[in-house]
Amino acid sequence: MTAVLRPAGIGFDPGTRTWILHTPNTTYAFRLAGGRPAHVYWGAALTDAEVTSLPVRAESGARQRGSTSFEAPYDGTEEYAWDGGVRYGVPSLQVRFADGTRGLDLDLVGDEVAGDTSMIRLRDRHYPLEVTLRHRLRAGTDVIERSVTLANLGDAEEIEVLRLDSAAWSLPHREDYRLSHVIGMWGAETQLRRETAPAGETVFTSRRGITSHHANPWVMVDDGSATEEHGEVWSAALAWSGSWRMTVQRTPLNRLAVTTGFGHDGISWRLAPGESLETPVSAGTYTTGGFGAASRAWHTYVRGHVLPRPEEERPILYNSWEATFFDIDAGRQAALASRAAELGVELFVVDDGWFRPYKDDRAGLGDWRINPDVFPEGLTPLIEHVHGLGMAFGIWVEPEMVNPDSDLYRSRPGWVLHQPHRARTELRNQLVLNFGRDDVRAWAFEWLNRLVAPGVAFLKWDMNRTFSEAGWPDAPDPERLWIEHTRGVHQVMDRLRARNPGLRVESCSGGGGRLDLAILARTDQVWASDNTDAADRLRIQHGYTQLYPPGTLEAWVTDSPNTVTGRRTPLAFRFHVAMTGVLGLGGDLAAWTEAEREEAAELVALYKRIRPLVQHGRQYRLRPPCADGLSAVQFADRDVVVFGFRETPRMGFGVPPLPLAGLPREARYRDTRTGAVHEAGVLTHHGLALDLPRGEYASAVVHLERLD
Ligand code: GLA
Repeated sequence: MTAVLRPAGIGFDPGTRTWILHTPNTTYAFRLAGGRPAHVYWGAALTDAEVTSLPVRAESGARQRGSTSFEAPYDGTEEYAWDGGVRYGVPSLQVRFADGTRGLDLDLVGDEVAGDTSMIRLRDRHYPLEVTLRHRLRAGTDVIERSVTLANLGDAEEIEVLRLDSAAWSLPHREDYRLSHVIGMWGAETQLRRETAPAGETVFTSRRGITSHHANPWVMVDDGSATEEHGEVWSAALAWSGSWRMTVQRTPLNRLAVTTGFGHDGISWRLAPGESLETPVSAGTYTTGGFGAASRAWHTYVRGHVLPRPEEERPILYNSWEATFFDIDAGRQAALASRAAELGVELFVVDDGWFRPYKDDRAGLGDWRINPDVFPEGLTPLIEHVHGLGMAFGIWVEPEMVNPDSDLYRSRPGWVLHQPHRARTELRNQLVLNFGRDDVRAWAFEWLNRLVAPGVAFLKWDMNRTFSEAGWPDAPDPERLWIEHTRGVHQVMDRLRARNPGLRVESCSGGGGRLDLAILARTDQVWASDNTDAADRLRIQHGYTQLYPPGTLEAWVTDSPNTVTGRRTPLAFRFHVAMTGVLGLGGDLAAWTEAEREEAAELVALYKRIRPLVQHGRQYRLRPPCADGLSAVQFADRDVVVFGFRETPRMGFGVPPLPLAGLPREARYRDTRTGAVHEAGVLTHHGLALDLPRGEYASAVVHLERLD
């Protein structure tokens, strides 16, 4: 008898009390066993009969439960592990009841499958606490979204919540486990790391109040054998833009599980009687197609279920920051706008400085008054000039910040994060406004709404420092600010967009400090790094696109030598790197030669032709960035575009033909520049010859139009 695979959907097998989730290509299952939701399976598609025949993994383990008084055999295998009983792994849920009891003892009280979502409700056997676990399928993807709600059903006592993760993801047993994740710092975000998972607990986290430049809330796991295009890869991400924690535990029994949620370690939330607390979503997906397929699955999910306007093409913007820094004036902005328009730019963005009383970062944040020395007649003449050039107008804001030298701070010193008897440490001369407060949220919404009213189509929403002395002394539960600040930022963005449907938003936090699935649900693109050095950008963008789509990655072409690294690179190389994301321009166009401007205009025009492929197509990272050799990335839909980069030439090491990926076998293509015709079979099995110029930082782009 042949196995009958179910279409995507959620089923429940009452005999074994197993919930079975089928996505188009995968199956996921968990079961109620011994009073706890045990993880059963996550991998390639199985039939329901196959799933229900599976043992809960701990039961089939070599060391049975109770075999010694030192083991906790379920650790690392539970669908959601709470604190309590014989458990010594990382708890996904930890509370402290008013009488000091910490352990939970939960029992199933209800379950429901409604459309694409399953819900199971568990209640403590003694205390008035209810936990709802949700699993949701997302149409057309292999992604499963999970979240949890905790409710205090009592009417008298608070319950202190010490940890409430969105999900624990348990992996099947493999001989070995390897983790892929990103690390970084300001100017060097999203650097991909791939390393064996050590036994013990590995914590990826941000304690900074933002997603952070230093780690990003996702991880991919394979058994050490996956490649870019082959092999099993499990991955999980958290949709949260504040502090977060993701703990990978590899147990001595060689189980691997990942638990993740908002808040870093040590934050609590006092859940009042009648109150409930809902987590953000953690999403997970499995593929047999290697890291490339995992990334493409995430890109499809982000476009299909996360981004507010995924159907749009992102415009080519010009941003004046690197041209002028704080030294801006209306005439120079207008001149830059004219130059940008000549090159084919579609959106002109005025960066920091327009509201500053001095030409630095000491004052102005919080008051948001247009500087009359800079713009004597306000912003309107510049906006009209930009519109007259056929471009949209955008502007930089940093709503969560205040300079102590501001009227706002002088009149509302209590609005910032602070703790009694502690210094208010300034970073970049600024303090953080507490977006947990309703009055701060309302104030921010009002002035932003006023600012965008007269024809502002785009906001670059920046956030230029991390939290310190993060207190909220007059609140009954001050630590809530860690979660409520982020909720406040999301809420103001959501309200602003709802009120101004034409408004588009870029997320920025000193570059890529706020990049995550939750910010992408209310912004259109992310400023991936303040480092615009094209060679460094190859690495940053390689890490960025592991999870997030290239169509959200803003990348500017700036001047050479680069302002951050001092590196000199050819204009074409800078363009080609930026063209693998959302192309923007950011240099001092007034200083570009006529020849450079001509070349730039041609490359802008080329980008407009290939933009649908880069922003909406499938990305194949053909060869990773490397200092010494060829790196390449391909984007495909019906047509194909390929970018090749060689940073350092070496005598005797030519550029071999580059095999392309994902082409239909019967397709034929024409090179739009040379007219040469290529067969898909040859491109796939032999490769495409790339014509790279001589010298350092050489690059090429080939646009292939499908013929039949
Ligand atoms: C941050 C941003 C930059 C720029 C400056 C302005 O560093 O990442 O792109 O906007 O602020 O102060």
